Order: sequence, then structure tokens, then C-alpha cells
Amino acid sequence: MSKLMSDKKLMTDKKLIDGKKIAADIRAELKAKTDKLLNDTGIRPGLALLLVGDDPASRVYVNSKIKACAEIGFRSITKELPANTTEAEVLGIVKQWNEDPDVHGILVQLPLPKHIVDNNVIRAISPDKDADGFHPESMGRLVIGLPGFVSCTPAGILELLIRSNISIKGKHVVVVGRSNIVGKPIANLLYQKTPNANAVVTICHTGADDISYYTKQADILIVAVGVAEVIKGDDVKEGVVVIDVGMNRVDDATRPRGYRLTGDVHFPSVSEKASAITPVPGGVGPMTIAMLLSNTFKAAAGEIGG
Ligand code: GUN
Repeated sequence: MSKLMSDKKLMTDKKLIDGKKIAADIRAELKAKTDKLLNDTGIRPGLALLLVGDDPASRVYVNSKIKACAEIGFRSITKELPANTTEAEVLGIVKQWNEDPDVHGILVQLPLPKHIVDNNVIRAISPDKDADGFHPESMGRLVIGLPGFVSCTPAGILELLIRSNISIKGKHVVVVGRSNIVGKPIANLLYQKTPNANAVVTICHTGADDISYYTKQADILIVAVGVAEVIKGDDVKEGVVVIDVGMNRVDDATRPRGYRLTGDVHFPSVSEKASAITPVPGGVGPMTIAMLLSNTFKAAAGEIGG
């Protein structure tokens, strides 16, 4: 590697937010807490996972979650059902897990087959076992600042910022995307009047005439739209902190698999201007599972409620 290239790599390494390392730290902390909980109380955290249908990406995600549970000493229970399973059958399984004292967290992998209404299933999960933080009660608690389960990707983004010593108070955070899973909860998390937040938050979305009008004003830019490399260097200001939630497959004949993974942010041009940035993969992705484990631990340890 030439000196110029190695200098550039050093510069990039310094400002990369290493989600893989931070997630590994969190998992190690949780493993120690899990050992202690088991030792002190005999409780082993248990996560129940339901996969309906044969979406290959969902299967990969569920397998990663099962593996992550095993690595830190959680029990996991998995049910895999065919795509023609009825909504009533799914609701029956959720009810059974709601009543099972060995199940502390419940996760129904989304998307569900079209004939099942996601919201009916999410609302059937006991709010006390809502490891995904998708239940309306969890969302409501977040909005009004009560303790509760926070959706895993937003919770992971907050941890990434805190553990990278990025100050949030008074900063202008611009969130691109308004999904229930990322955009809405991360905005609500970051404007709360708490020591680790207290930002001024703008949410922009496809309703905006010119998204870059907003993104250029961001001190911290969070992008969660699911469109490959849509935010370019010209859309951000110098020194911005960038959190890229996207995970998109882009055809690439030079790769053995025929595709590469990329975020919603065009990394080469945006990283030139950013003071810190998450890579894809290895940024936000690993944090989501770490926070799922954290939510399940909190449910098992009775840390949430009231
Ligand atoms: N599908 C994609 N991401 C998620 C997630 O975080 N939780 C669930 N339940 N389904 C998903």
C-alpha cells in the first residue's frame, strides 16, 4: 500500500464508527449480566422467535438471532410455519408464549405473509414481552418518556452515538425516513429531555420537495430509506456525523456472489466530509441484534415496567 493510501486508510479508520466492536462489547456485558442473573435468581432469559413463510432474508436474520442468544447463555425457542399459516394460528402461538413464564421476549419476524395483518400480531404480543419494541404501548411509552422497550435499531443508534462520545444535546439531528421501526422511534428517542439526548430533530421523507435542503443542515444525519446510496457528498455539510441504516444489495459482477452490500449513503463522497460515519456492513447492523438481546435481558430481569 502506498503512503498516500495508508494515510487515507488511517484517516478513515479514525472516523469510522465501529458497530461490530461496540455490539461485541454490549454482548460481552450482557453475557456477564446473564451469568449473574442466573446465579442470583435461577432465571435464564428466554426469547421466542416466530418465522412464517420462506423469505430467505428473514431466515438468515432469525438464524443470526438464535445464534446470538446461544452465545450469551439465553434460551431461545423457534417456531417455523409455512406461508399459508392463518392469522388465527399465529395469534394462538403468541398467546401461548404470552402465558409461558420461561419466555421473556417474543419476536415475530416481519414481513409476515400478505394475508396476515402485521399490526394485529404486534398488538397481540404482551407489552411486557415486547422485545422488538413495536407494540403501541412501547411506542407510546417512548413518546411520553416512560421506561419501556425501545425498537432495536433506534436503541442501537443511540448506543453507537453515546459509546463513540458523540454529543447529542442541542445538535440538529436530521432523520431521513419515517418508518415505524426506525424513523419515528429514533426521532422520539433523540429529542427527549434526557442527559443522553436533548437534540433538535427534523424528520424528512418523500413528501419533501428537496430532501437535501434538510440534510445539508444536519449535525447528525440518520438515513433509513432503503434506497442504495441516495445521499451523496453534496447533500451534507462538512463535519457531519452520519448514521447509515440502509442495507441494500447492488449488482456487482466483480464480486463472487454477483452483488455487494451498500447503505443508503454514498460512502466515498459522504465520508470525505463526515467527522464520523458508520460503514455498511459493520455499522448499525450488528447493533440491532445486540439491542434485541438487551431488551430480552431487561424483560427477564424485570427492569421494565411501572
Ligand atoms: N424484519 C426486519 N427487521 C426486523 C426486526 O427488527 N424485527 C422483526 N420482528 N422483524 C424484522
